[in-house]
Order: sequence, then C-alpha cells, then structure tokens
Amino acid sequence: MSELQHPDSRSFELVADVYERARPGYPPEAVAWIADRLDLHPGRTVLDLGAGTGKLTRALLETGARVIAVEPGDAMRAELERAAPGAEALRGSAEDIPLPDDSVDAITVGQAFHWFRHDVALPELHRVLRPGGGVALIWNNRDPDAPLHQEIGRLIAPFIPPDRPDAEEWSRELGESELFGPLEERRFSFVQQLDADLLAERIASVSFVAAAPAPARRELDEQLRRVAQRLGGRVDFPYLTLVYVSFAV
Ligand SMILES: C[S@@+](CC[C@H](N)C(=O)[O-])C[C@H]1O[C@@H](n2cnc3c(N)ncnc32)[C@H](O)[C@@H]1O
Repeated sequence: MSELQHPDSRSFELVADVYERARPGYPPEAVAWIADRLDLHPGRTVLDLGAGTGKLTRALLETGARVIAVEPGDAMRAELERAAPGAEALRGSAEDIPLPDDSVDAITVGQAFHWFRHDVALPELHRVLRPGGGVALIWNNRDPDAPLHQEIGRLIAPFIPPDRPDAEEWSRELGESELFGPLEERRFSFVQQLDADLLAERIASVSFVAAAPAPARRELDEQLRRVAQRLGGRVDFPYLTLVYVSFAV
C-alpha cells in the first residue's frame, strides 16, 4: 500500500518542481518547538512522513538527529534527495511504513496528515514508534484573516472541495485516537514574499489546482498575476502555522 492513497494527493507529482520553488519552509520557532518537545538531537532518530520535497526534512537535519524521510511520490522524493541529501529517503506511505517495529524515537508530518487513511495510518505510526515516542503535525496555512487571502480564497474557491475540513479537525484524528495521548498545540505566523511568478506558482502547487484542467489553471494564473501587478509586483503572503504534538500511549 505504499501508493498515494488519496487521488487528489497524486497531483503533487505533476508539480514537484513548482512545489519546491514556491512553497515556504517552516518558521524556525515552530521547528524549535517540535525539536524541543520531541527531544531531537544527535543519537535520536526521527521519521519525516509524507516528506514531499523535504521542506521540513532539511530543518530536522539541523537538530543533528538521524532523519528518515518517507514519501510515496517518486517526483517529490527526487526533489527531496537533491535538497536534503543528509536524510535517508525511502519510498513508502503512512499506511505502509517501510521500517521495523519500535525503530524511531519521533515522527513529524508536514502538511500531509490530511492525506493519510487515518484508520490504517495511526496504527502504523504507533507500530514504528518506540514506546512513548512523539508525533508532531505541522501545517503552514494561508492566514484566513489577511485581505490578500480573502481575495485569493475567492479566486481558488471553485477548485477546492466544499466543506473541506481544516487542520484543527484533521489533528483531532490523532488526539482522539486511543493509541495517542492528548494534543498540545502552538501557533506561529510569518510572511512569505512573492513576485508575480512565484505567487502564480505558489497557488499552482495546491493539489486541487494542479489537478484541474489546463484552461482553468491558465485563467487562474492570469488572475493571480493581475493581483500581484496591482500590488506593485511583490506581495506579502501571510501564513498561520499550526503545530500539534501528541505522544504514543
Ligand atoms: C503538501 S505535501 C507536503 C510535503 C512536505 N512534508 C512539506 O512539508 O512540504 C503532501 C505530501 O504528502 C504525500 N502523501 C500523500 N499521501 C500520503 C500517504 N498516504 N502517506 C505518506 N505521504 C503521503 C504527498 O505525496 C506529498 O508529497
């Protein structure tokens, strides 16, 4: 089952290079909080699951821990192997982790937990974690209160499934699992500066946009470039980063 389980998540494979160019990394304070709670340092092993192009993986390497990156998409994993050569990159999925029982001290999941089949994945996470090991989930969300995101939200609404749950709801799958303890939560904010090309690519890297027909993507691309031009050619793109930590019981 080391395939991409959710059909909409397969579209990342079409835009792996765009994802790597246009998506931000994670705020250093958020990674520091994860490293502290999961006790990441030399001698410890962390699994970065759904590691994509390695945006979180490369920050984890800075803790000195051994980092194993598991990613089902070949194109995303190829970007990771270039960008984070210090990590051990493996093909696999959250539902079928290619590691032995009790083999890692901690697990991180950047922007990917919502793609997992939680009924299968949570027992898998628990299986590979050593007793009492921690899991951190992190999402860089577009800040819903920022006026720019209200405008972009209107432009991309036709691409996004209605009533899509949010990070708070997805993370409850972990916090309410009998295999894991209660969730701890922290929030961070930061701003990514984008020119017109990168703004268009940032939105093109959204899975639902990447999966859409070419004419709809072209029209959205033009609309986004007009937004960037109206704002002087550069935009401040604000994020709200949500982090959740829980420990295996
Ligand atoms: C939005 S990207 C996040 C990548 C990276 N963790 C980051 O922080 O930028 C989501 C990633 O989850 C991966 N993914 C989707 N379904 C998965 C599954 N069932 N198990 C593991 N990874 C999965 C996708 O291939 C994709 O690379």
